[in-house]
Amino acid sequence: MTAILGLNAYHGDAAAALVVDGELVAAAEEERFNRVKHVAGFPSLAAGWCLADAGLKPDQLDHVAIGRDPRANVGAKVRRTLRHRPSISYIRERLSNQARVGDVGDAVADALGVDRGSLRAKFHSVEHHRAHAASAFFPSPFEDAAILSVDGFGDFASTMLAVGRGTKLEVLDRVLFPHSLGIFYTAVTQWLGFPHYGDEGKVMGLAPYGEPVYADKVRELVRVKADLFELELEYFTHHTRGVEMTWADGSPTIGRIFSQRMEDLLGPTRQPDEPITPHHENVARSLQEVLEETYLHLVHSLWKRTGIPRIALAGGVALNAVANGRIIPETPFTDVYIQPAAGDSGTAVGAALDVWHETAGSTRGFVMTSADWGPQYDDESCAGAFAAAGVAATRLDDDELFPLVARKIADGEVIGWFQGRMEFGPRALGQRSIVADPRRDDMKDILNARIKHREPFRPFAPSVLADQVGAWFEQDYPSPFMVLVYKTREEKRELIPAVNHVDDTGRVQSVEPDVLPRYWRLISEFDKLTGVPILLNTSFNENEPIVMTPAHAIETFQKTRMDMLVLGNYVARRYVA
Ligand SMILES: [Fe+2]
Repeated sequence: MTAILGLNAYHGDAAAALVVDGELVAAAEEERFNRVKHVAGFPSLAAGWCLADAGLKPDQLDHVAIGRDPRANVGAKVRRTLRHRPSISYIRERLSNQARVGDVGDAVADALGVDRGSLRAKFHSVEHHRAHAASAFFPSPFEDAAILSVDGFGDFASTMLAVGRGTKLEVLDRVLFPHSLGIFYTAVTQWLGFPHYGDEGKVMGLAPYGEPVYADKVRELVRVKADLFELELEYFTHHTRGVEMTWADGSPTIGRIFSQRMEDLLGPTRQPDEPITPHHENVARSLQEVLEETYLHLVHSLWKRTGIPRIALAGGVALNAVANGRIIPETPFTDVYIQPAAGDSGTAVGAALDVWHETAGSTRGFVMTSADWGPQYDDESCAGAFAAAGVAATRLDDDELFPLVARKIADGEVIGWFQGRMEFGPRALGQRSIVADPRRDDMKDILNARIKHREPFRPFAPSVLADQVGAWFEQDYPSPFMVLVYKTREEKRELIPAVNHVDDTGRVQSVEPDVLPRYWRLISEFDKLTGVPILLNTSFNENEPIVMTPAHAIETFQKTRMDMLVLGNYVARRYVA
């Protein structure tokens, strides 16, 4: 047996993953355990859980792989430092980060509660974007594929073009600091008054409300250059001041990375408490337009350089589901794979699989068809959690449970649906979800008022029986991880107003019976009652990280105004006095 612990550490969305003999067996984000959104630092709790879940002792680990390598691209780093004398605080920040990456052996031993000397594992550093690329290709169903990783920065690079063939991953090209599509999107997101780590998804939701009238202006910020792209640096500050990313023990925050020139170009920055005007909507739309152009340019470059009609993508920018939805219709690629943890947490899986194939793996057999790699809880744990919280719950057999819950959804109730293993990656996909009726005009407002308290412009996503996707949307390529946005068919739009966004699209999750049997059955029961094979699916949380344990779910049930909570086969109802 070969056991490899993969880590995303000292970076946003810290996570751990365990790969045994080339198969992923467990993976989870640290934020779900310590309840701090996007937490950076070291994923101690997630790493400890991965081993416990697999029944492995720390001394059974053969390798530890971290998805960071301070030595990667070092020549370019040194050349840049010599040319541009960065500030002392920037150098200090980089050095302390490198030291943390170097101390990973001690951190692993601490996390697993053993002496450093008792670990026999070999430690490996995998360049950040190589880990992203490996996370995209190795778990894909493709024997060979073009690979694209696009993000902010990791190990001095922002973008990697690569090709995967069998067990080999070859890097074709990189875009190095200071040029970055992730930084471009984050900078305009900040200008739009969304300062938090991970707010880029909000801007993607806002964009369809505007028109791309400023696309030419936004094109001044980023331009394509040969196969790649370049930023117009005078609009940014990250290259002079560094990206001031601080996390202490909390959520990561990024300091302002755009310059006064951005305000000269687009107008004054919106403050987070100021209203969103049509001007802001138009800037968001223009930003999204230019992002899509540049992203599709990179996709085309990969086609030219590989000639392989299959593409695997990762990196934070690969979570831009609108851009992803354009790949198949508008490029020569006929197949797309994006695993569910396409953001930085997925580098834990990528680093582990890269080390597996570099050290031992002679064949590839593992395909990631589901996101269910996190903790799960049995009947007894669910019943115990209800009892501990003093919440009355009833156990129903499946034949009673599914029709009842489907009926309640059709009656307009909002249901907390907690089943099996927690999802790995940012999306809830029917294991830790809140589900509701997509047919109701008022359901978005109900969810926002009673549970989610989100910005009203953000869309809710549809979970669709896989064989029905084509009947409701204009594309039907499988989208099991909700990373592709499709146009809703014209004749169906008014039937599902709660999941049809303002531009008549939906971020589709296609649900297969063999991958998510319980979620598939719930949607099927709803379909039998209503003729609509779709549920509205939003993550099971209010504002905190997605719930992990039954206790977290009960707490969120109690503090929000959900109508019903289902934990496995246990059902609790809200009793309104
Ligand atoms: Fe990344």
